[in-house]
Parts: sequence; structure tokens; C-alpha cells
Amino acid sequence: MTIGSSPDTATGGPSISRPYVPARPTIPIDSAVLADRYGKFELGARKIRWDDQGPVQIDWSIFDRSKLTLYNLFVVKLVTFVESYADVYTSLLLENFCVNDTMATFFQLWEREETNHAVKLVAYLQLVGLDKEELRESLQRPRSRKFDVPYVKTPLQANCFTYCQELLTAFFYQMFRRTVKEPLLNEILTKIIADEWRHFHWYESVLKLHIEADRKKTLEECFPVFENFAMPGNQILGGEYEILTDEIIKMMRFSTSEIFQMGRHITSTFGLIDGGRLVARSSYARDMKDVVMRKKPRKPHHEEVVRSFIADLEKALAASPA
Ligand SMILES: [Fe+2]
Ligand SMILES: [Fe+2]
Repeated sequence: MTIGSSPDTATGGPSISRPYVPARPTIPIDSAVLADRYGKFELGARKIRWDDQGPVQIDWSIFDRSKLTLYNLFVVKLVTFVESYADVYTSLLLENFCVNDTMATFFQLWEREETNHAVKLVAYLQLVGLDKEELRESLQRPRSRKFDVPYVKTPLQANCFTYCQELLTAFFYQMFRRTVKEPLLNEILTKIIADEWRHFHWYESVLKLHIEADRKKTLEECFPVFENFAMPGNQILGGEYEILTDEIIKMMRFSTSEIFQMGRHITSTFGLIDGGRLVARSSYARDMKDVVMRKKPRKPHHEEVVRSFIADLEKALAASPA
């Protein structure tokens, strides 16, 4: 996939090369303020860029197979599926939920960074010993499914969806990194986490512009997203994704404290009372509480799904290094 944007422009201003259909905003926000914020975001992005064209490069020689666990690989493989979909999300955002040139440019820069996550994670799995072709094929397979989020109907709701998704992604990666002793994976995760928090803060700042413009209407529009939110992985892998993430939450020994910590970000964006209401309405938070409190019944094919997902990882881990 080629990323068509030119985020290296000296000005940092909007630079769009992929066409988009302008969507009508439900709550207009100050486009000059947005453009100014994007300029700063882009400057920061350029300095820490760690894709093949960026100034920062990872030292892949620090890889230490002896410190890698099957559980580490399980998580890496699952997130690689989600990260590999950046172009699908971006097309959807550009086609349906993009209100102006600044957002179009941002989406393309975002796509570039998310694609870099996928590229690096795939390279890592290959270094561990996963077959290149098999991996490519399995990442390709779910792409035939239609990506559709029925409760997202407006640009603001799309922004709210990506806000939730980036928050969960950043938070999960951060929790996961604590369990990783292998130095190369730890380094890759450190870079990804920094990107995910930057993404979260961008979407948060756009949400805040809406809140400043019309608080009541913003909350009304965001409610359905919080009520129904599910990670995009559900669209990509279907029911299998839920089983695999439930397994990971248990392995990471999450408790209600983690749910509380995530909730704190939401109250910081929306305020204590409104943010609290949004968290209370969130089916995702409720479901996660059931998982950590061991109230959620296991799906009948749980073991089977987990076993088949990790089969190639076990094989790679058991094989002696090339
Ligand atoms: Fe990512
Ligand atoms: Fe992200």
C-alpha cells in the first residue's frame, strides 16, 4: 500500500493526495484552530518518525529469543491483525466522515503511522520464525469482510469512535509492555505506545473543540458511540476476536482498577459528571468488568479458538533459531 500524503511539507499545512468526499459537520468547529493544531502535531510527528523514511531507527540486533514467551507472541499476532487495517479505516473515514482538508491530511498521516506499526509487527513475527506467506495470507483473509459500524453516522461520532479506539489501544499496549522482557519487542512497543497516545490526544482535542462549540449536542451525539462501542477487531476477526481479547485480559490479570484508569481519561475529556455518565453507559466497560470479575461465561469453542490461533506461534517458538 502506498501512502499518498506528503506530511513532510515544510509548512506542515494540509497536503492531500487522496480524494475525499466532504461531509457536513453536525457541530461546526473553528477550522483555523484545527489547522494550527495539526501543524504542531505534524511537526512533532516528523521529529519522532520511525518508519523507513524517518530519522529514528530501531536496532533489530537486540532481539533475544530466550526472553520471549508464547503469551507475548499471542498478543503481537492479534494486534498485527488490527494494525494491518489502517488503510481500510482511513478509506472509510475519508469517504464518509471527513469534513475538511486538515482532517483529510491528518487521516493520511495517521494511516502512515498505523501502517508502520503493522509493518514492524509483521517483521517481528517473521524474525521470530513465522512463515512470511502464511502470515500474509492470514492477514489478507478477513479483508473480504465489510467494515461497517452502524452506530457511527456523523463525523463527530467517527471521531468519538477513534477516540475510544486509540484510548484502548494505547492503554492495552502499555499494560502489555510491562509483561515483555524481550528487548526488541519492548522497544517496538515503546515506540508504538508513544504514537497511540499522540493519536488519542489528537482525537481528544478535536472532541474538545466540539464540546466548546456545543456541549449538549456533542454529548447527545457521543452517547450512542459509548453505548455500542466495540473494537474494530470485532469487525476484522468476528467472534474469534472477542474470545482472544478476553483471554488476553485474563492473562494480563486486569482488574477493575484498569477499567477505572481508562475511565479517568474519559472524565478528563468530558468532565467528571458527563464523562462518568458516558462510562456508565458503555457496554464495553460493562463487558470488560464481567471478564475481569470472571462473570462472563466462556464461549463453548473458546479453547479451540485459542489453540488454533497460537499453533504457528508455538511452532516458531519451539524451532531453533536459524
Ligand atoms: Fe497502531
Ligand atoms: Fe493509533
